[in-house]
This record gives sequence, C-alpha cells and structure tokens, in this order.
Amino acid sequence: MKRVGILTAGGDTPALNATIQGAVKRASELNVEMFGFIKGFSSLLNARLPHVRLNPLMREIPEIDATIGGTMLGASRDYVSGEDEVQIDEICDRLGKLKIDGLICVGGDGTLNGLQPLAERLPVVLAPKTIDNDLGLNYPNEPDDWSKDSEGNYRQNRSQRGFNCEHMINYATPGYATAVFDSAMGIERIRTTAESHRRVAIIEVMGRHSGYIALGSAYGRPDIILIPEIQVQIDPLIDRIMQLYELQKNVVIVCGEGIKDEDGNEMGAEMQTTDPAGNIILSGAAEALRHKLIEKMGDSYFVSRRRGESANAAIFTRKVGHTQRGGRPVLFDRFYASQLGGKSVDMLLEGQNNAVSILQWGQDQGFHVDSFDGNRLRDQWGMIHARHVHPSFYDAESMKPSKIGIDYLLPIFTTAIGHDDVEHIRRTLFTSGNLMLPYHSVNTDINKRIRYLSEKVDF
Ligand code: F6P
Repeated sequence: MKRVGILTAGGDTPALNATIQGAVKRASELNVEMFGFIKGFSSLLNARLPHVRLNPLMREIPEIDATIGGTMLGASRDYVSGEDEVQIDEICDRLGKLKIDGLICVGGDGTLNGLQPLAERLPVVLAPKTIDNDLGLNYPNEPDDWSKDSEGNYRQNRSQRGFNCEHMINYATPGYATAVFDSAMGIERIRTTAESHRRVAIIEVMGRHSGYIALGSAYGRPDIILIPEIQVQIDPLIDRIMQLYELQKNVVIVCGEGIKDEDGNEMGAEMQTTDPAGNIILSGAAEALRHKLIEKMGDSYFVSRRRGESANAAIFTRKVGHTQRGGRPVLFDRFYASQLGGKSVDMLLEGQNNAVSILQWGQDQGFHVDSFDGNRLRDQWGMIHARHVHPSFYDAESMKPSKIGIDYLLPIFTTAIGHDDVEHIRRTLFTSGNLMLPYHSVNTDINKRIRYLSEKVDF
C-alpha cells in the first residue's frame, strides 16, 4: 500500500487527534502517504472529495497535535448506505482517482456499520473512539447471547457466569477516560455548593444507553449513581436520599442520560414540556428524576427541616454536557488512542479488512493493542449492539460500583492523568495572552490545506 486515507466519523471525542497522529507517524515510518478526509463520511459523499495531505514528504503537518481535543479533520454523523450501490460505486471511483489503497475510519459502532459496505470494495479498518465506552464486548461470545422477537425487539440473555476483565474485548475506548475526568471534576465542584445550601443535586452524564461514564464518575464521590442498565427503583432511592440528607444535609446523585424507570421506560424521553413557542422539549433524565423526587418528597419534607421553602428549590439538576466531549485529552486517552491509530495502519498493511484495532488489558501484560474481526462484534442478524455495563460492575443496593466494577476502573484511571496535563492548566489558563489574543481555530489552518478531486492534482 502506498497511500491510505483516514476519516473521523460520528460525534467527536477528545482523543481523535491523537489517533490521527499515531496513524500518520506509523504510516510515515512505513513510507505510506496518509490523506485525511474532511468531516467523516461526508467527504466521501461529496463529489469533490475534500481532503488534506497529512504527511507530505513523510513529515506530519504541524496542525496534528495529540494534546488538542476535537478532530482537526472535522466530523459528521453522515454514513454510507449499504443499500445504495450507485453511491458506493461513486465513492470507490473517487477514492480510486485519488489512488487510495485502504481506509481507516475512526469511530464507534455507527462507523463500524458505515464502513461495512465499503469494506466489500477496498480494505477498511476501524480505530475505535467513543466517550460512551460502548464499542466492545464484555466477553468474546457476547453477540451470540442476543435474541430477537417477532416484532424485531432485541433481548440479551447472558450466557457467561462470573466476570473476568481480562476477557473483555476492547477494555476501554479513547475518549472515555477524559469524559470521566471531566464528569468527576464537575461532581466535586457541585458537591460543595450543594453542601453549603443544603441541596439535593442530580447530575446527568452522557453515555446513551451505557452507564460507563456514570460508573466512572464514582471518582467524583457522588452519594448515589444510577446507570441505564439497572432500572431505578424509586422508593428505595428516596429512602436512601432521605437517609443521607438527614446525615449530611446534602445529597449528590449522578445519573446516566439513558436511565430507565421501574417499567423499563427511558426517563429522559418520558417527561415532555413545551418552550414558549410551543415546541416540545425533551427535558432529560435528570430533570425527569427531579420531578419524581419533588412529587414524592414534597415541600413539607424540606420546609420542616428549615432547608429551603420548597422541594423545587432544594432539588436541582445539572448536565455535564458537551464539556465531557471536548478539550485536552488526558494522558491515558492520548497514549492509547495514538497506539490504536498506529495499529490500524499495521492492520491495513498486513492485509486485514473489516477489522477493528482494540485495546486489551491483562493482569500480567497491562494494556496492549491487538486487532479483532469486525464481524465478531455482530450478532447473528448482523447487528452491532452497544456494550452495556456488565451487571456485576454495579451494586444495586448501595447504588455504587461493586468490587468488580472498581477492579475494572482501577487500571484505566490510576495513572490516567499525566503530570503535563496538570502543568498545562497552570501554564495556559490564566496567561495574559488569553485576554488579548483571539482564539485561533485549527480549522482556519486546515482550510488552507484542503484539496479537491476536481483540481486534478497529479500525485
Ligand atoms: O455518543 C456520544 C455522545 O456524546 C453521547 O454520549 C450523547 O448522547 C450524544 O453523543 C450527544 O450527541 P450530540 O452531539 O449530537 O448532542
């Protein structure tokens, strides 16, 4: 292979530039040219195929910086349709004109689905990323445990008894550690204000239907963690909140955005309100939970304890939001994202196709990269399911990570933050230049490097 392409698809994560850097470095070592496609699959769907040369003369361009969050190539949620043969022909024709011999897609499960139709026409591999940490398996044959009913609803029946972290496929995905770092910091900060004002805080974290970010947020020492995998039992929850409130006059609850109620309904989707223009606003899981607590605990509970004039005032919510997805990636993410990027280049050159570079962990070996056949992530109907937090990671009684959950988190987080991550804050945040100089976006520089197919540059 002489020339390979790379694109970053789906929602961004903080470690994408590190993956790009790892891939470009490895390609340069192997004397392979690397072209970056702009805004994920959107570039391939564009007749002009916007792209950037990432290592002209086998030297990486200066905009590639593993310490900067987001993606210098841009991202989108556009995907290639497996049904549309004409579209796939057009894409292959464009890639052929640019003499692209193989493609690396950096993404999650959506991206793995998106690359499938292309993998039938040219070698394509996936380098994983997602803050949700849901691309992978709890144990190698997990996809076989899914069944589908006549209405097309999937259900997981777990065949594996016991749990062994060493058997997980893709232990952690780049972006996850940084998202947890940001969430845990947010929780620590909310705690002190909840303490001062005797309030109950409900903090919502991302992760869709997987509770990994919520689980990891235990590092911020919330009192209660609710994950989407375990239905919320409202009465025991309220008992626990009251018990804690009597003791410490404040309670901090973390909930994953996909938490479900006793009937299995998603709480965030359930509570609908309208904005002044009459548009429906989906208020989110934390807000839905807050309304449940207000209704059940009532004003009198807080008034009788002289802690605010109402439940409405005492219980508040905050979403950690997109700060989880942005900013400088912590050392763990940078280091392994870069290795996974490099591994994906090796995989292409070894002749692999429709495969994923993965991060494995073992007691003796620690973390190491490997590759995994993309099809082995699919169930018998070809579906890739988001990996859920294994039930053994969570203690439903204490509403916190279990011993196994803690054992899972420790290898990732114990040394996840680098000295330079901390020093970076000290050196850069309150520098006087921040007040005087405008922000300089990487997009401004990359724009100058973008080339198009129609320019007929002869390489
Ligand atoms: O999948 C990553 C993720 O950040 C989820 O955790 C979250 O639900 C979603 O993307 C948010 O997407 P958007 O950026 O479109 O709001």
